[in-house]
Amino acid sequence: MDDDGDVDDDGDVSDSLGVSNDPDLWVSGVSIRDQFLAPAQIHSLVECAHRRRAHRGFDSARIGSERGLQRREEIRGDSICWITAPLLPAEKVLLEELEHLRLELNREALLGLFELELHYSWYPPGAGYARHVDQPHGRTQRQVSLVLYLNEGWTPAAGGELRIFDAAGRHRDIEPIAGRLVHFLTPEREHAVLPTHSDRMSISGWFRTRD
Ligand code: OGA
Ligand code: MN
Repeated sequence: MDDDGDVDDDGDVSDSLGVSNDPDLWVSGVSIRDQFLAPAQIHSLVECAHRRRAHRGFDSARIGSERGLQRREEIRGDSICWITAPLLPAEKVLLEELEHLRLELNREALLGLFELELHYSWYPPGAGYARHVDQPHGRTQRQVSLVLYLNEGWTPAAGGELRIFDAAGRHRDIEPIAGRLVHFLTPEREHAVLPTHSDRMSISGWFRTRD
């Protein structure tokens, strides 16, 4: 850990922040699984993202609620593409894997997770996402947030870490390396994407309860 309470990505992290690499979400509220998908599957998803981009599937992400959506690049600089039908083959494989995860979470914690919303996020160099919580104001359906990283050959110099805060304001940074899946309990979990110096691609999603 360094002076400001940060924690190295690769060390023993079951420290003051209470975040551990234990895939058990219930111990810490945050789970990190490396190689959630095999490298070849990740590579196929990268190709899917490029294909959707070539078909103009990406739009600048906006912030706020349905009534007041706005583009504020200084707060959120990514472009997103919702993963909706028709699905590409690698996307179908991903959804099957995430369905296993959904059932596992429901079995372990009776969260009543019912559906999944999922999009690609592409952060160009210089972009980030300021500290936030993943819940539109006044809503409660999003229960578990997940992010799967698609950045093959990522190096620490590229920045773009996911910064996760605890209730006391301490944080740890997680590198967005290919195949890594991070998921956490959505309510009140503040987090941010630090400015990236390279193109940064991920898939973000939320397991939701019924409306
Ligand atoms: C988000 C988000 C984190 C990341 O899309 O809401 O916080 O590491 N993403 O991409
Ligand atoms: Mn978020």
